[in-house]
Amino acid sequence: MNVLVTGGTGYIGSLTSVQLLGAGLRPVLLDNLCNSKAAVLERIERVAGVRPRFIDGDIRDRALLDRVLREEGIDSVIHFAGLKAVGESVEMPLAYYDNNVNGTLVLLQALREARVRTLVFSSSATVYGDAQVMPLREDAPTSATNPYGRSKLMVEQILADLAASDPSWSLTALRYFNPVGAHPSGLMGEDPQGIPNNLMPYIAQVAVGRREKLRVFGNDYPTPDGTGVRDYIHVLDLADGHLAALRHGHGRPGLHVFNLGTGQGHSVLEMLQAFGRACGKTLAHEIASRRPGDVASCWADPAHAESTLGWRARRSLDEMCADTWRWQSMNPEGYPG
Ligand code: NAD
Ligand code: WQD
Repeated sequence: MNVLVTGGTGYIGSLTSVQLLGAGLRPVLLDNLCNSKAAVLERIERVAGVRPRFIDGDIRDRALLDRVLREEGIDSVIHFAGLKAVGESVEMPLAYYDNNVNGTLVLLQALREARVRTLVFSSSATVYGDAQVMPLREDAPTSATNPYGRSKLMVEQILADLAASDPSWSLTALRYFNPVGAHPSGLMGEDPQGIPNNLMPYIAQVAVGRREKLRVFGNDYPTPDGTGVRDYIHVLDLADGHLAALRHGHGRPGLHVFNLGTGQGHSVLEMLQAFGRACGKTLAHEIASRRPGDVASCWADPAHAESTLGWRARRSLDEMCADTWRWQSMNPEGYPG
């Protein structure tokens, strides 16, 4: 099976491509490299034993998509490509709607023409907005507090309308909680450009000496230790969730929505301690004010994915930290190039 992987050189796309290769599928990676490096291709080859086909291009390039779908004999799509920084989306909403919403529309139009009808989409727990009741089930109300989140919600709505309009489509929205971790080889992991926005890569850069200390955004939340609680999931568990969703999606029309999380929440201070155990250091931190837009707690009810896809997250918090530390210490500056 030939699987088009948009955003395939990015963090989650590259590790999902490794798992696809391991399962005997043929990923075809399409990425414009706006937030990733082509050097990851060599790492995929070292880890999986095969260098995947890569196309340097943009999902908004319709002529390119038409050619790739035809020439590569694409059967299904995993659609990771998009911009993902919440703060940046507030400053540059048009860039986010263009990449994430318009980009998805161009892709869906090309798929319709090419009669490719199976797609798995990277959605996010951000679509639950400022939810109060935990754990989050897929039928919880959705809302958005920033353009990034709104772009994910808009795409979910487009997918719902498309599935309702034509029963030949099988569309799956996977709502990721907080993906962290790296390949256990230490050869592949998250490589944020500039100052990391997210907790785990920031802690990893403190551990490796690139940053002085972690700023903990608020210790007065209504959580056990006052710091924010999230559902961190190992990126390889997340990647395996895509394989399960792809298999489930084939021949099953409609829109399918799944949470991909562990069902367990951990606080910022718990994460700092767990990472300290993995790297054998005490990591410096200071308490700072709350980050605007943050919720106190967010964790998944993953029961629907387990009962329907037969998938659940298996890797522990200690594995998430150990694998991230191996990647960060072997590649202090991320991928070369
Ligand atoms: P990433 O930035 O590492 O990967 C996204 C890839 O898409 C990058 O390689 C980028 O170059 C590419 N890209 C962006 N716009 C493109 C375009 N117009 N055409 C072609 N390629 C384009 O991010 P990631 O963490 O791997 O996230 C993948 C997907 O999962 C994104 O859609 C993101 O919104 C979603 N998601 C991520 C998280 C997270 O915390 N990492 C959580 C929930 C959802
Ligand atoms: C986790 C916790 C912070 C950095 C974001 C997006 C979401 C999704 C995943 C894409 C929070 C605290 C963080 C730091 C800190 N992405 N923190 N100091 O906010 O749950 O989710 O990434 O879809 O849409 O919003 O993840 O890793 O940024 O924060 O104290 O330097 O760590 O306040 O409690 P978040 P995060």
